Amino acid sequence: MPKIELLQVGSYPDWDQAPLDAAYRMHRYFQATDKAALLAEMGGNIRAIATRGDLGASADLIAALPKLELIAVYGVGYDSVDLVAAKARGIRVSNTPDVLTGDVADLAVGMWLAQRRRIVEADAWARSGNWAATGNFPITRRAFGKKAGILGLGRIGRAIAERLTGFGMEISYFSRAAKKTPGWLHVANPVALAESADVLFVALAATPSTRHIVNAAVLKALGPEGMLVNISRAANVDETALIAALRGGSLGSAALDVFEGEPALNPAFLTLPNLLMQPHIGSATLETRKAMGQLVRDNLAAHFAGQPLLTPVV
Ligand code: 8YV
Repeated sequence: MPKIELLQVGSYPDWDQAPLDAAYRMHRYFQATDKAALLAEMGGNIRAIATRGDLGASADLIAALPKLELIAVYGVGYDSVDLVAAKARGIRVSNTPDVLTGDVADLAVGMWLAQRRRIVEADAWARSGNWAATGNFPITRRAFGKKAGILGLGRIGRAIAERLTGFGMEISYFSRAAKKTPGWLHVANPVALAESADVLFVALAATPSTRHIVNAAVLKALGPEGMLVNISRAANVDETALIAALRGGSLGSAALDVFEGEPALNPAFLTLPNLLMQPHIGSATLETRKAMGQLVRDNLAAHFAGQPLLTPVV
């Protein structure tokens, strides 16, 4: 019985690659020197795409696969998958929610604390000899007991808020409709949320309607003492406005795990002393990445066994 053939859009860790290779014939699109030739030769055999949250599946790629049945995303974000093209052909899409919620929320809170207490700069201060040569590191600002705004109270936004209650934070959130919460305040628009917050966490799923939801007005409202933490997608933030606000001081600081065009970054980011950067590592722990890979394989296996997807998007 010939193996079912899959198109693999990006690399996976060895512990995920081995079981996929054992179960399927994996065509490594990301390694192909001539991608068009690969699609021309093998495209007619491909029944599923195995991709990643950061890579997705374009309309052109979907169109090149006439037998495509499923797009399995290794990640919770499916904004890089052309859902219109998938839905038009009845192609299913799965992702890997829940298994990564805790790690992504942990990193968001970790970035907030690190930036607010300037932990990275203080480490450099100690390592550089400045402590002995210059004196104590400058005092910073308190993190706990302040006001937090959560932009998007989905799984990750809620997990961030739950963590912040442990820091005695007063929590407000923006979402399309008020949700059942332990007393957190629903705010009807992002500017009002930013005005009320000392730190604003961006935890929205990226969609065409959320593009640049964090704009110049939101950043101005957050203000010179405020901090922006983005753990979602870069598309949710107007990076040009953010760079101007950080450079001009109208926004106090920011901590970003995602960037337009990543891993190629806007070089302006590299000059900003009030910016903490992380290289899209929200879900990047051994435990979570293994769980994500298992969920991708479980969705593939369920689909080809004619069973319901475990975590369907469409
Ligand atoms: C990516 C992410 O999947 O979950 C997401 O949507 O952004 C990440 O976890 C990551 O790029 C995996 O390679």
